[in-house]
Amino acid sequence: MGDSPRSFLAERAGLIDASGIRKVFDLAAKLKNPVNLSIGQPYHDTPGPLKESAARAIRAGWNRYTPTHGRPDLVEALTERIAETVSTEGKELIVTSGVSGGLFLAFATLINPGDEVIVGDPYFVSYKQCVRFFGGTPVLVDTYPDFRLTAERIEPRITKHTKLIITASPANPTGAVLAEGELKSIAELARRYALLVISDEIYRSFSYDGPAPSMAPLYENTMLLAGFSKSHAATGWRIGYAFGPTCIIDEMAKLQQYSFVCAPAPAQAAILEHLDLDTDPVTKAYRRKRDLICEGLEGKYEFTKPSGAFYLFPKAPWGTDAEFADEAIRNNLLILPGSVFSERTPHLRISYSAEDSVLERGIEILRQLADRGR
Ligand SMILES: Cc1ncc(COP(=O)(O)O)c(C=O)c1O
Repeated sequence: MGDSPRSFLAERAGLIDASGIRKVFDLAAKLKNPVNLSIGQPYHDTPGPLKESAARAIRAGWNRYTPTHGRPDLVEALTERIAETVSTEGKELIVTSGVSGGLFLAFATLINPGDEVIVGDPYFVSYKQCVRFFGGTPVLVDTYPDFRLTAERIEPRITKHTKLIITASPANPTGAVLAEGELKSIAELARRYALLVISDEIYRSFSYDGPAPSMAPLYENTMLLAGFSKSHAATGWRIGYAFGPTCIIDEMAKLQQYSFVCAPAPAQAAILEHLDLDTDPVTKAYRRKRDLICEGLEGKYEFTKPSGAFYLFPKAPWGTDAEFADEAIRNNLLILPGSVFSERTPHLRISYSAEDSVLERGIEILRQLADRGR
């Protein structure tokens, strides 16, 4: 054992599991032309003008490191937009390698071993795994069946070890969008218990029943994380940002200097040119897809209608989530078992980020699978 390369691994490497999503994708690799309703990113390509800007930026020589915080003109432009609704006094912004980069820097900077972090269940997988990686304890707050992370559900789980609450609205995997009143109640709770709120707003432009409110204007101790992976269909570009108390952002910048160094320079240049991209047409198109899948599965599946992101999180009509998702794969349909995102096992994550023709085939297979029973 002593000479196995495994013996070199740090203990914290054992604190995280490979994402269950990977396991499904490995299985899926064996399928020929599957109906794919599992993807966690816009299915449509990055808009042409953005691609042109990125290509132009590379040709113009924007290929070197940028300052750690990001290009000053991008930092300024993003801060100006935030300042329209939020006081920037004592606050700062750093451009990160996607929201994932922001989450990593924030957790690394904030979590001491033993600190507890409130996370709504179902959750985006990184929250649980990354909190554990840094020695924290994710305290999972059950939000079934309506998937609303509310102050009432959070308060009983607060202890003297609680440091952070993570809010994600619109949410992955449930599509829940929190109302301003719900966010205000969480803000009041956080204020009362002196907790920091990390607000993941990556899906803010994917909100179908009215604008998704932000936590940032409601609570002074918010670490706002947002980005362009979804809104600009540019997941591979790795551009996000974190906006929060200066003393925390400064520490995150220190760590960024020694890790990510900076977010990709050509992508920063291209995003700067398209900060005001009109996302309404995409929102409209995805709203229609949301309605298509909800109407298609009505009566066959039990679900709470999602208001945002691009996922439906219904109950499996029979069996466990894994049994049902395996049967779907045997029928050439890719969906994800809910237990990838939850401690509970009866649900499924269905992504409607797909061409209409794919979505229609998927709905047909899902209806047949529901009828089949066990
Ligand atoms: C809720 C949520 N937060 C963050 C991310 C990560 O996004 P990024 O590409 O900006 O790292 C995702 C990606 O799926 C997500 O669903």
